[in-house]
Amino acid sequence: MENTKGAFEHPLGEQHLAGCLALSKSANWNQNENDWRWMLAFGNGRGITLADGTLAASALVIPYGGRFAWVSMVLVLPEHRRNGYATRLLRAAIADLKSRGLAPIIDATPAGHEVYAQEGFCDTWGFRRYALSGPAVRATPQPGWPVVRPITEADWPQILALDEPAFGASREALLRALAGRLTESALVAESHRRIAGFLLGRDGREARQIGPLVAGLPAATALLAAALECVAPPIYADIVDREALLRGWLEARGFAFQRPFTRMVHGAGPAPGDESRVMLVAGPELG
Ligand SMILES: CC(C)(COP(=O)(O)OP(=O)(O)OC[C@H]1O[C@@H](n2cnc3c(N)ncnc32)[C@H](O)[C@@H]1OP(=O)(O)O)[C@@H](O)C(=O)NCCC(=O)NCCS
Repeated sequence: MENTKGAFEHPLGEQHLAGCLALSKSANWNQNENDWRWMLAFGNGRGITLADGTLAASALVIPYGGRFAWVSMVLVLPEHRRNGYATRLLRAAIADLKSRGLAPIIDATPAGHEVYAQEGFCDTWGFRRYALSGPAVRATPQPGWPVVRPITEADWPQILALDEPAFGASREALLRALAGRLTESALVAESHRRIAGFLLGRDGREARQIGPLVAGLPAATALLAAALECVAPPIYADIVDREALLRGWLEARGFAFQRPFTRMVHGAGPAPGDESRVMLVAGPELG
């Protein structure tokens, strides 16, 4: 273990953006400056800075709807791991959330899973990151697919009504921010004048990420087919483990498995929301 003397813990703000970006880049994560800016504005971050001024570790909490919060961006620079920094920030985040009556939720990488399980997080369901590196193999539209079109302002009440039971809380601020990040993936599927599903996405450091996607299977497939016509690769999609059929469809378009994530809840109990309504999550850092 290195000498950690002089390392100090502090709140994270915009002045730490360069250090935050260096942290996520060191783990080959996809967040760009827009992501960090949004998360730092809507959540609360804490970091550990070394005596030489290097930001060595981060952890954020993003509260959703007064019942739970995402623990996000738990990162430690590779050369400073196994010094207890993640555990220290995680314990501070859990104590903060518990004092506010918010259940801590986390989407764990395999490395993070080891730390979180020791700190009392339990597994619920999982999802897998799929990546498309070149042009997508075109999909043939199927009879019964709903009409897919860009989101308009008038669609928001129905989008929010679909998202809240699926995710488990209102996250309007996040969804509206995403709608402005990657307009070509901001789509709804419409059937009999009702919104049957929606898709959003965002730009990223390595790839554009599509998700969340909340819809049944036909609408989800139609939304993805439309997005793949206009979103330029590389593309990431975080698909729930449950959806083998949609996963097969993505593989037929050229997507390949990249890495697994586990949704974990602090203490016992199910994950918030209704997993059966979610096809793609927004991403492990957002829920
Ligand atoms: C996961 C990560 C945040 C852990 O940070 P860290 O500061 O090294 O973790 P800690 O020192 O607090 O580890 C506490 C304990 O967790 C376990 N642990 C931590 N990392 C582990 C790993 N890679 N494999 C197995 N066990 C691990 C160990 O029991 C460790 O105690 P020990 O060092 O006394 O054996 C860090 O490896 C990292 O940034 N990884 C890349 C990004 C990532 O995956 N983050 C998690 C997002 S969900």
